[in-house]
Amino acid sequence: MSDTNQQPGREVFSSRAAFLFAAIGSAVGLGNIWRFPYVAYDSGGGAFLVPYIVALLTAGIPLLFFDYAIGHRFRGSAPKSFHRLRSWAEPVGWIQTGVAFFITIYYSVIVGWALLYAFKSLSQPWGDDADSYFFNDFLRMDASHLMTLDFVWPITIALLVVWVLVIGILVAGVDRGIGIVSKIFIPLLAVLFIIVVIFSLTLDGAAEGLNALFTPDWSALKNPTVWLSAYGQIFFSLSVAFGIMLTYSSYLKPRSNLTGTGLVTAFANSSFEVLAGVGVFSTLGFMAMQSGVPIKEVATSGIGLAFVAFPTVISQMGGFLGGAFGFLFLLSLFIAGITSLMSLLEVVVGAAQDKFNLSRSNAVLGIGGVMAVIALILFPTTSGLVSLDIMDKFTNSVGIVAVAIIAIVVVDWLLHRTEELALHLNAVSSFRVGNIWRICVANLTPVVLFVMLFQEIITLVDTPYGGYTAGQVVLFGWAVLAVIFIGSMIMTIIPWRGEQFLAGPPGSDFGVRTARKLEARPPKQAIELDDTAATTKEEKK
Ligand code: ALA
Repeated sequence: MSDTNQQPGREVFSSRAAFLFAAIGSAVGLGNIWRFPYVAYDSGGGAFLVPYIVALLTAGIPLLFFDYAIGHRFRGSAPKSFHRLRSWAEPVGWIQTGVAFFITIYYSVIVGWALLYAFKSLSQPWGDDADSYFFNDFLRMDASHLMTLDFVWPITIALLVVWVLVIGILVAGVDRGIGIVSKIFIPLLAVLFIIVVIFSLTLDGAAEGLNALFTPDWSALKNPTVWLSAYGQIFFSLSVAFGIMLTYSSYLKPRSNLTGTGLVTAFANSSFEVLAGVGVFSTLGFMAMQSGVPIKEVATSGIGLAFVAFPTVISQMGGFLGGAFGFLFLLSLFIAGITSLMSLLEVVVGAAQDKFNLSRSNAVLGIGGVMAVIALILFPTTSGLVSLDIMDKFTNSVGIVAVAIIAIVVVDWLLHRTEELALHLNAVSSFRVGNIWRICVANLTPVVLFVMLFQEIITLVDTPYGGYTAGQVVLFGWAVLAVIFIGSMIMTIIPWRGEQFLAGPPGSDFGVRTARKLEARPPKQAIELDDTAATTKEEKK
């Protein structure tokens, strides 16, 4: 019955729950717990929710559907799906894979820190100076060298544990590994995090913290940077535009409710984000009250928030209570991180598996092994924070935004395939997309992203990012972007192995004609995602 092509032996998620939890697991990550609270605070507090919701509705959800439609219709990893769209479009899939490659390697070390800090919160070795402990004792940070091979052993071991875990999960398979782990970890994460948030609301000073986060500064809405921050946050947080949702949806059964699932994923991700904002700012309110400083001074960005501010709060609470609170918070960060990490690695593994016709275990062990070694050389060293910070900035602010623009320009502007994707979404989903979706994807989003990218590049060229040396910024920033772009060309030139699967089975025809036939076929509405029990609403009645 398949309208699209299913490579023999391609794995599938066995149920709606498995896919949904995997997609939510991918979306909810370090970006929600770490990044959202600070970005929101820094960009106008409560007023940030306006651009945030606009960005979610006009770019986040539409691009999530766009990713789902490509992966599901063309049933392949990013390079394979883009190749099936049109063979010259293959580099777009490789650029997405390249961005995911670099995000995966630096993301893994932060997940390793969270694991170590979860256990450290039980003994609180930082005393009353969490800041100095984190940079000097824990990271043994050395920002003066381009790259040192001076390993910090506890971090090296934690990073190794993270890679063994994530490789083990992926070797087990899409459904038996990613699906099962997500079904266990995501409900667990929700429970743990709700406990953390409820507890944080009972702390002295919580109300001041929430006031700081939610008191709107309406003048911020006039600032274009605030709008751009909202779009950046949504892209990273929803895992759109860098191959993740595209890859996951390629493992869905042919009749799957894509848009319904997308809406649930987006809603769950944003709810978690707001919940994280509440938890983090209640805690910062407590910290500000204890230290007698304004909340502005305790609300620091990403790394500082999780690994400096939180440990400070843990010590201020003291004893068992502090230990338990810290452990739960950092364990949540670890779980959120590992479920996103496996989705990031799956982008690269899936691409290699398709291109070289590899078995799953060979692809995971080979690619995962190489990436683990690169991560182990670059990040658990005394210079690791520098490479991580620069790579994070360049892959997010330039890489993701640039590849999102490229994908839209190729699929809509050059190949005119958005209509086909809309027909595909409507044929299999309960929530139908139409002109508004097309305008958001093809017109509005690329314009906003282009302005964003332009501004960002100007800033990065003008001032070396983060006050690092030119050598550091070139090596871990610009060179990484060059490797992604040149690497995508090289990967495209390398011939496909298992080419018989590239065009799909005989008689298959991607294109708007087939999509129309599919759309005309009943039952077309309210198809349950789990197509083993495919039923329409009518049948249920
Ligand atoms: N979406 C993932 C996050 O928020 C990558 O961390």
